[in-house]
Amino acid sequence: MKDIDTRHLSFDEFDELRDPRPATQGFDQVVEAAISRRGFLSGLLAFGSGAAAMGMGTMLSSTSAQAQAAATRFAFKPIGIATDATVHVPEGYSWDILVRWGDKLFSDAVAFDHATGGDAASADRVFGENTDGMEMFTIGSHQVIAVNHEYVNPEINLPHTADGVPASLEDVRKLQNLQGVAVFEVAEGPDGWAPVVDSPFNRRITHLTPMKISGPAAGHDLLKTAADPAGTESLGTFNNCGAGKTPWGTYLTCEENFNGYFGSTNAEIEISPEFKRYGIGAETRYAYEKFDARFDFSQNPNEPNRAGYVVEIDPSDASATPVKRTALGRIKHENAACVIARDGRVVVYMGDDERGEFLYKYVSNGIYVPGGDTSTLLDDGNLFVARFTEDGKGEWLALTPELTGMTQAEICIHTRIAASKVGATTMDRPEWVAVNPVAVEGYCCLTNNSRRGVKPNAGGDETPVGGPNPRAENNYGQIVRWYPENDDHAAVDFDWDLYVMAGNPVVHKDAYAGSGNINEGNMFNSPDGMMFDSTGLVWIQTDGEDSNEGDFAGMGNNQMLAGDPVTGRIERFLTAPVGSEVTGITWSADKRTMFVGIQHPAAPFPDGEGKLARSAIVAIKRDDNAIIG
Ligand code: FEO
Ligand code: CA
Ligand code: CA
Ligand code: CA
Repeated sequence: MKDIDTRHLSFDEFDELRDPRPATQGFDQVVEAAISRRGFLSGLLAFGSGAAAMGMGTMLSSTSAQAQAAATRFAFKPIGIATDATVHVPEGYSWDILVRWGDKLFSDAVAFDHATGGDAASADRVFGENTDGMEMFTIGSHQVIAVNHEYVNPEINLPHTADGVPASLEDVRKLQNLQGVAVFEVAEGPDGWAPVVDSPFNRRITHLTPMKISGPAAGHDLLKTAADPAGTESLGTFNNCGAGKTPWGTYLTCEENFNGYFGSTNAEIEISPEFKRYGIGAETRYAYEKFDARFDFSQNPNEPNRAGYVVEIDPSDASATPVKRTALGRIKHENAACVIARDGRVVVYMGDDERGEFLYKYVSNGIYVPGGDTSTLLDDGNLFVARFTEDGKGEWLALTPELTGMTQAEICIHTRIAASKVGATTMDRPEWVAVNPVAVEGYCCLTNNSRRGVKPNAGGDETPVGGPNPRAENNYGQIVRWYPENDDHAAVDFDWDLYVMAGNPVVHKDAYAGSGNINEGNMFNSPDGMMFDSTGLVWIQTDGEDSNEGDFAGMGNNQMLAGDPVTGRIERFLTAPVGSEVTGITWSADKRTMFVGIQHPAAPFPDGEGKLARSAIVAIKRDDNAIIG
């Protein structure tokens, strides 16, 4: 925590501040236990012995011939760290802005005004705030991006307020309309890439857009409200973080820290255990509940139960109603990585980003048939949660009524509680999951965890050090990888290892130095966004501490790196402006442009001194226009 001024906190930081890490004794002993159990005696070499025990043979046994071949997999010359306020990419590459917060998607929007934080009436006609997960869709001859607008920075969006707290319903509406999702066509012209203003594909989905609720929880009493007595239609999608793409060409947007929007005008209201498990409390940062009764759970107690889902959007039809797919569970959804199992069932991997929460997968009952009916594939299926064991094995535990004592609808609404009942492994904040397109394996970024081993999760589950969460005060994070049994993503059993343990080998000589594939030249902290390109390289985006001091000295600003799954080699490709995180990546149809999201930069990015900082998507190309992914 760099700063206690809550106006400048990310959602995660705000959460940490509200619920701080307790003072503990015996912390050193906890670390020692982790090191000796894993054999992490000192940095690089020691990780080798630990890794071998975890079945990490591929990374460590690479011959020099393999290493030579691997060298050719990185078509770029890695870059050093940066601490400045702009974007850097390797020699031979260049970047340009595709779109930034406030840029017009429709010509009737008012041009962005740095003095007002943009026009309130245009908030749902422009590119929204805090760009996050995104996917590119090719629809006929059109290229259409769907992208999340995770949250707002009210002190930036509402500069007329003293502290960013809305003072009126109009202020609330502006914030509600700047978040959600944007779907918009893009095209490359002589001056580079730009949105196609007024394209019929263009659409803003906000905190007010009508949604359909489907799956096992649809119509359940816990989802019924006075405005929707059937419990099947809700308004808005919230805190849209990571994303996913189905094989049938729809966009999956994932509701993460939805709890932050629902409050109570009665500060004394009793908070149920179910609300507590999701961090829902009377106080909010955005004060929606003061001006919009839908967000006041003292008046509308079921409204928070209608958020926290994966929402499917059809990017080919701007009039299509988004669908909340309750079968995929209600958690703080990070992203949704889809893959087809050997028998054609649809598998969706999903992380729940909070300290000590879990990693999930959904497996459809039906088979995906290209061109067939896909309307119920994400409604009819089974949820599983991961348990990892010390011996490098793991299993997916089914969340069924028999094993949880909950109905199928309750499992889909109070998914965290169901997962606790079956004994899932508490994780170090599961962020993005990615699936390798050229090998049957999944990856999940475990971004960091200040409370590992010292505090249970919000449901009271202990968070012991061990398995894929091998370090106590885990400031750096790691990426866990699993190999489904029989090369089948629908399988119950898997083997796992750590693809990388981030760390600082200059400052530390113990487990906090990181794994053997971390060195002074590529170190980073807090892996978060992650996606494979079509060639099987994994792109890792960070959302961490960018002070470049102390434990983080030598890491610089947040960054994006490319990793080779076979050799473990990781190289830095991009550095982001100070204050920002890198999140969201997709490619043009011809793979000659890579689009990368820059979220919550500090000024003067990208418009220069004296201007508001604006989140933006950058378009990156090779100067020789070759394919980059
Ligand atoms: Fe929105 Fe967990 O990142
Ligand atoms: Ca994230
Ligand atoms: Ca973020
Ligand atoms: Ca993060």
